[in-house]
This record gives sequence, C-alpha cells and structure tokens, in this order.
Amino acid sequence: ATYHVILTGGVGSRLWPLSRKSRPKQYLEIFKNDSLFELAVKRNQKFSDGLIVVGNKDNRSLSINSLEKLQIEKYYEIVEATPRNTAPAIAFSAFQVNPDDILVVTPADHIIKADENYDKAVSKAVKLAEEGNIVTFGVKPTRPETGYGYIESEGQSVLSFREKPNLETAKEFLHRGNFLWNSGMFCFKAGVFLSELEKYEPKVYKSSKEAFEKSQEGKLDEALSMEIPSISVDYAVMERSELIKVVNAEFEWSDMGSFEAVYDYFVESGYPTDADGNMVIGSDKFTAFVGMKNSILVNTKDAILILAKEASQDVKGVYQQLVDEK
Ligand code: GDD
Ligand code: MG
Repeated sequence: ATYHVILTGGVGSRLWPLSRKSRPKQYLEIFKNDSLFELAVKRNQKFSDGLIVVGNKDNRSLSINSLEKLQIEKYYEIVEATPRNTAPAIAFSAFQVNPDDILVVTPADHIIKADENYDKAVSKAVKLAEEGNIVTFGVKPTRPETGYGYIESEGQSVLSFREKPNLETAKEFLHRGNFLWNSGMFCFKAGVFLSELEKYEPKVYKSSKEAFEKSQEGKLDEALSMEIPSISVDYAVMERSELIKVVNAEFEWSDMGSFEAVYDYFVESGYPTDADGNMVIGSDKFTAFVGMKNSILVNTKDAILILAKEASQDVKGVYQQLVDEK
C-alpha cells in the first residue's frame, strides 16, 4: 500500500509573529478557507491508501479539527511528546507500516499548485520508490537560499546532496547550474528508509524504534523520546545515502519557510512593494520606508516585526528568545 505521511511538528519559528506556538503557520487559513495543512492532505489523497499524521501534542487538536473538516475519519496518528526533528518523525511512520509499503512524505506547510505536473512528479516518484530508491523532488533554484538542501543532479541521478550550505557555497551551486533545491518531499519504501537510517544513524534508528514500540495508540513517551538524537532527515540520510534519486518538480512550489520565501511568493502573485522593494504584511496603514531597501514590516495584533529580507533566517532567534524568557 501507499501512505501519505504528513509532517506537521514544526512551529514555524522563522515566520514569527505570523506563526505562533498556539497556531503554527500550517494551520492558519491563509488561502481562502483552507490551511496549508488541509491543502497538503487534499492534494495527496489520490496517491495514498491511507494517511499518517506525525505531529506533536501541542498541535494535535488543530490537526484533528482539520481532518474532521475534511471528513477524514481513518488515519494513523503519531503524537510526539517532544520534537526530535524529521529523521525520527519519518522513522515512526515507517515503523507503523510494512517494509514494502511506500511512503510519500510531505511537509504540512508548503504552497504547491496541485496540477497535472504535481501528479506526474508524484507518480514518477512512487514508481522509482517501488524499485528501491529514495526519491527527492528537485526544484529549480532562483536565489542562493541558505535554508534549503541542494541536490547536485544529472537527470534522475543524484551526484551529491548538501543540506543548508553557507551563502558562498549556495552562490557557487547556483553558478554551477546542475543543482536543484530539495523540496522537502520524499518518497521511498518504509523498509528501505529504515535500513538506510540504521546504517548511517544507528542510534537514531534504535532509539526511535524503542520509543515507537513503547508508544500507546501512537502517543510517544517523553522520557524515551528524549533519548532520540534530534536530527533532520536531510543530514541523517539524504546527505549520505547512495540510493537517492531526484524527480524534477515542475510544479509551482513555495516553501513558506521564511519571510524571504513569503516575500518572493507575494511579489510573484502581484502583491505590492514600494520602489525600493519594501513590503508591508498585515496592515493597510500608509507606511513609509526611508533609507531602507528590501525590508519587510510584519504587523499582527500584538507584535510587529521589521526585518531586512536577507536576514529572514534570523527571525528564529527572536522566537527562541521569547520562548527562553517565558
Ligand atoms: N512531526 C514532526 N516532528 N514534524 C517536524 C519536526 C518534528 O520534530 N520538525 C520539523 N517538522 C516538519 C515541519 O513542520 C515541516 O513541515 C517539515 O517537517 C520540514 O521541517 P522544517 O524545519 O521546515 O525543515 P527546513 O525547512 O529547515 O528544511 C527542509 O525543507 C526544505 C524545503 O522546505 C529540508 O528538507 C531542506 O532540505 C529543504 O530544502
Ligand atoms: Mg521548512
């Protein structure tokens, strides 16, 4: 069988103050009346025989409400006691099913146009996964983004995978031309993923397995979860495995991961900036930027953020500081 695994454990700290701990960005109904979480579930329904939701205890009720709204009653639920990043999150879903089952793993917080290009790419990926490959989806890069993974490719072959390079390296990748952004979606057989994880990160494999086996109705134990090293699937498996293939993602894709991505997406959609590229989000008030270029002002009911677009990755620090002060 094929399962859609939706990863929805992130808090979206780089999108503070739009994204809050009480309502992470994937649950905001920013697009018409749908949240990004709901859109992600809907666009993958046709490929899957079942859904696996991997989230955490803080956002569990938000996921449940969304699934009720979509009238989805049957699904597996994995409730993390504490986030351990994506490698363990994916491992839990792989332990849930049979080794030969195919997993289509997607984030909950991307904007993707669900057209025939999307369907084609996913179908291609499922086929490659059936042959034992670990499939990534490669997006044509448009800027030297340091928040993404880069796939050095030759057709469907992957020469190397590099997660979150520094700016200099990202610029070089763009210049060399045969690098794609990793979209953050993956497709593989559950058993193939687990044996690669065991090979490269035995401790993550073992501790995730133990926590999963001792979980109660999908709810993970906190103490056992704390034993699991926190590591993303990109560092744990994608950078090391020799089974990686890439499918060209010829669909419209935007990771709304940082304000820079939001800015680019808004500009492409015709949202206004001033002559110096400054943008206001969340306010109709007349706003003047003096001596500033490519800045973003984000207004919410109880907080304002002003940032230089290039510093988008650093918003995480503000969020962290607020969490630490509490
Ligand atoms: N269940 C669960 N538990 N989900 C998690 C956890 C966790 O501990 N941590 C993150 N997630 C979810 C997030 O909510 C998001 O949907 C997805 O997993 C990816 O995590 P991010 O934290 O957003 O990763 P990233 O944006 O830094 O990088 C990844 O995505 C990029 C594209 O958007 C990588 O795969 C990059 O290589 C890729 O370019
Ligand atoms: Mg992300």
